Amino acid sequence: MSYEKITLNPIAGAMGVEIEGVDLSQPLDNKTFDEIHQAFLENLVIIFHDQNLTPEQCKAFAQRFGPLEIYPFVKGLDDHPEIFEIRKEPDEQRNFGGRWHSDMSFSDQPPVGTMLYALEMPSKGGDTMLTNLYNAYDTLSDGMKDLLGGMQAEYSAALKGSGGRAAVMNMTRFDVDNLDRAEQAAMHPIVRTHPETQRKALYVSAGHLTRFEDMTEEESKPMLDYLREHAAQPDFTCRVRYRKGTLCLWDNRCTQHRALNDYHGERRVMHRLTVGGGDHPS
Ligand code: SIN
Repeated sequence: MSYEKITLNPIAGAMGVEIEGVDLSQPLDNKTFDEIHQAFLENLVIIFHDQNLTPEQCKAFAQRFGPLEIYPFVKGLDDHPEIFEIRKEPDEQRNFGGRWHSDMSFSDQPPVGTMLYALEMPSKGGDTMLTNLYNAYDTLSDGMKDLLGGMQAEYSAALKGSGGRAAVMNMTRFDVDNLDRAEQAAMHPIVRTHPETQRKALYVSAGHLTRFEDMTEEESKPMLDYLREHAAQPDFTCRVRYRKGTLCLWDNRCTQHRALNDYHGERRVMHRLTVGGGDHPS
């Protein structure tokens, strides 16, 4: 597709574009939104710098991609339960989402996307790394594609460091919620077809994957470890570098991500929104 309303600047070979020429505080006409949506599908991660957005404006933009979903394990803002604050203070060591994962892959219908809006950034660091799971699938051998094509795996919220419930319990400043759903898990195909692009992705959500269907964790571990390493190789990745006012949206159906924890002694504050309406992976 050619782009007339927006300008795209790729941030890496594997994926990710910065989009120029859009003020997200203003209502978007359909043509501009169609181009942004196309850029999202083609590039998996879209980034807008130098925005000045209220929570209402963040929500209005996110809702163009699908209905908002409430993240289960952290209480949202009082007036905006669909938004929660990811905050790491200078005296904290742990961060949220620090291990590779695809958001809420433990749900029956994992979300379409995740949006972060940067309110306060450290003087350096605090990037999000993402990896392209289409590339992870495309680069497997034909034999491995055939083998994995018939396999389902379990994705659980309970693993330590998963970015799910186990992670938020470690965060002293997070207002945790719904711990009764702590053991939430779902079976999904390890190779899923993106419902909009029809491309196949290796659905590796490293911090949530526990085992293959009808297999024990011990039996599954060697293959899952191989896939975790394969999916996270540097050639498949990009880094989102934020500054105050950066908004980023990624596609959870074909990426996984991790928050880097390289800014101890400084504060990082993001607003995080979940775009729901995802498919049952198939
Ligand atoms: C997340 O895993 O949702 C948070 C990512 C980040 O803070 O960079």
